[in-house]
Amino acid sequence: MSEVLKKEVLENLLERRSIRYFKSEQIKDEDLQQILEAGKYAPSAANQQSWHFTVIQNKEVLQKINDVAKSVFAKSGNKNYEERSKAKDFSAFYHAPTYIIVSADEKAIAPIADSALALGNLFLAAEALGIGSVWIHAVNFLYTTEEGRALFKELGIPDGYVTYGSGAFGYNAGERPKAASRRDGTVNIIK
Ligand SMILES: Cc1cc2nc3c(=O)[nH]c(=O)nc-3n(C[C@H](O)[C@H](O)[C@H](O)COP(=O)(O)O)c2cc1C
Repeated sequence: MSEVLKKEVLENLLERRSIRYFKSEQIKDEDLQQILEAGKYAPSAANQQSWHFTVIQNKEVLQKINDVAKSVFAKSGNKNYEERSKAKDFSAFYHAPTYIIVSADEKAIAPIADSALALGNLFLAAEALGIGSVWIHAVNFLYTTEEGRALFKELGIPDGYVTYGSGAFGYNAGERPKAASRRDGTVNIIK
């Protein structure tokens, strides 16, 4: 890899930020394919590649997911979720045009870690392609409810696969957020 390319790869890691305002314009199919390819090439325990990517771009299906999320949030017993569900323009995924749910085989060695690394690759690939993204954690909560699990079945998430995380993707419609400063004392190098 050339020095210039190495610098760009490292900059990509530092410059990616979570994006929470999206244009309605859909991302290009070829970019989606590259993002998914990057996800599939993430490391996984014993190379089990335990993940499954469910990509939703259909407006009615996105609406349906949002409706279920709103209903589940409203009766969650969690103050924050309940408050959010009351918003008139509630969107569990910030109105992004592409929503990707990552599920993984619950019998795999490390399905949570596999899913997180896959999502990380999706986000970094998106950044390199000029596409904004953010992790949406609520999917994990949906999985704990019957309504949520019924929805996931309808979406074709394989039996025995648990949803561990999801991501919203689209072109940034807001300001580019600045990185928060890094916490001190998180590294100990022993030589
Ligand atoms: C496990 C995990 C769960 C997250 N869940 C959410 C979420 O539900 N909604 C959200 O807006 N951001 C979520 N985020 C994004 C974080 O808030 C964000 O990564 C963090 O504030 C650092 O900002 P940055 O991504 O711009 O560097 C999540 C991130 C991680 C790693």
